[in-house]
Amino acid sequence: MIDNQHILEICSYAKLIPVLVIDEVSSAVPLAQALMRGGLNVLEVTLRTANALQAIHEISQLDDVVVGAGTILKPEDIEFVKQAGAVFGVTPGTTSALLDSAIEQQFSLIPGVATVSEAMKVNERGYSFMKFFPAESAGGVNALTSFAGPLPGIRFCPTGGITIDNAPSYFELDNVICVGGSWVAPKKLVNCGHWDRIETLARQAKNAFEKHG
Ligand code: 3PG
Repeated sequence: MIDNQHILEICSYAKLIPVLVIDEVSSAVPLAQALMRGGLNVLEVTLRTANALQAIHEISQLDDVVVGAGTILKPEDIEFVKQAGAVFGVTPGTTSALLDSAIEQQFSLIPGVATVSEAMKVNERGYSFMKFFPAESAGGVNALTSFAGPLPGIRFCPTGGITIDNAPSYFELDNVICVGGSWVAPKKLVNCGHWDRIETLARQAKNAFEKHG
């Protein structure tokens, strides 16, 4: 049985899940703290760097943070991210092997889909909350509006090309409960340790999205 509700509640409260690319382990904690000071405490660390697992581990030791792993591509990644301390995972697309692994390990997953057929296949496996990726290039708000008719029970976290400016139009949709994006933690600012600027970006997003129920 897939526990969609738990992860759905966490994400629905968070509204924005920052998508993080962390090169240096030493950036992990100050980055997470900056985002948390700005009001964001559900974080996705992508498996796109050699240090991602260590970064997840360090962030998972902080209080009041919910850390997940993104860019999960291989079934065996799930075991590694779980061991590192990730409490949820996000995939850009979905394979049966990934779903098998997540289900077997009872790991909360937000599977990535870009089309109605993909969403139907993932839904057949018990998932009703999915990442819509790459949101802007896969049809954006118009696509999700069209998904709502035939797929009334499915909720999405659109990611890919989302910004503070276009996010509000996604929040108008009943099938969107949060968005994901890297704009609050641009790689340049992370690598230069501009934590105050990241905190400001996080706060701006938090304030802008708070009003969306
Ligand atoms: C992701 O992996 O979810 C995306 O790369 C994030 O997309 P963005 O960089 O356009 O926000």
